[in-house]
Amino acid sequence: MPVTIKSKREIERMREAGKILAAVHDELKRFIQPGISTKEIDQKGEELIRGYGCIPSFLGYEGYPASVCVSVNDEVVHGIPSSQRILKEGDVVSLDTGVIYEGWQSDAARTYGVGTISEEKSKLIEVTRKSFFAGIACAKPGNHLYDISKAIQSYVKPYGYGIVKDLCGHGIGSSMHEEPMIPNYKKFGRGILLKPGMTLAIEPMINLGTWKVAWLDDGWTVVTMDGSISAHYENTILITDGEPEILSLSEDSEDRI
Ligand code: MF3
Ligand code: CO
Repeated sequence: MPVTIKSKREIERMREAGKILAAVHDELKRFIQPGISTKEIDQKGEELIRGYGCIPSFLGYEGYPASVCVSVNDEVVHGIPSSQRILKEGDVVSLDTGVIYEGWQSDAARTYGVGTISEEKSKLIEVTRKSFFAGIACAKPGNHLYDISKAIQSYVKPYGYGIVKDLCGHGIGSSMHEEPMIPNYKKFGRGILLKPGMTLAIEPMINLGTWKVAWLDDGWTVVTMDGSISAHYENTILITDGEPEILSLSEDSEDRI
């Protein structure tokens, strides 16, 4: 499948999917506090998504058993929600979820501190979010795909964090994962030319320690090899004639730079 250019009508649906997903994340954020189980977060997420008339895109995706990936501390992504896993003060938790609205997808992730967290952890979360914005600043027609990758890497580099290489961002549309793959580090060459109408999920995954990761026996949970804390930030974006549009982030979000 080549990289698809979305029509006006398709973009309208992806905008709506993104708006709903942004609202779901905003509402889920309020539940992040010590004492909540990761399962409760997932249940709330599914309820919100269905409440907006959407389908939770993760549920059943290649057998994934939940609507929200909840990844705690050294878990990078794809943590499986559990009633046994209770968030505690000082944890770092990332929520990754997606919706399907009238056949069109949106995918986004946020990372939060639970209660009060250390300076070191909040810096990691902040740098991860800001690296997304460094990347999207290059998401303009005339630029190439790996300009985004390079910008993310350049932004993170001075902090000495590990940039996860085994997982990437991706094109998105009527399927959650479309071409192209979007690495968060520099590749040889510049990649495809970016064009208006392309929709991409840009998602840096950054570790306090090594970039190396491992998969747990559950077949899903990705963890850092050295047990260090990890953060993830993702939005679905649209390339336009001018500035890129962030589809899955509320207009009034404090995340915007
Ligand atoms: N948000 C993830 C991604 O960007 C997808 C989660 S995989 C699932 O690739 F199985 F959990 F859905
Ligand atoms: Co994604």
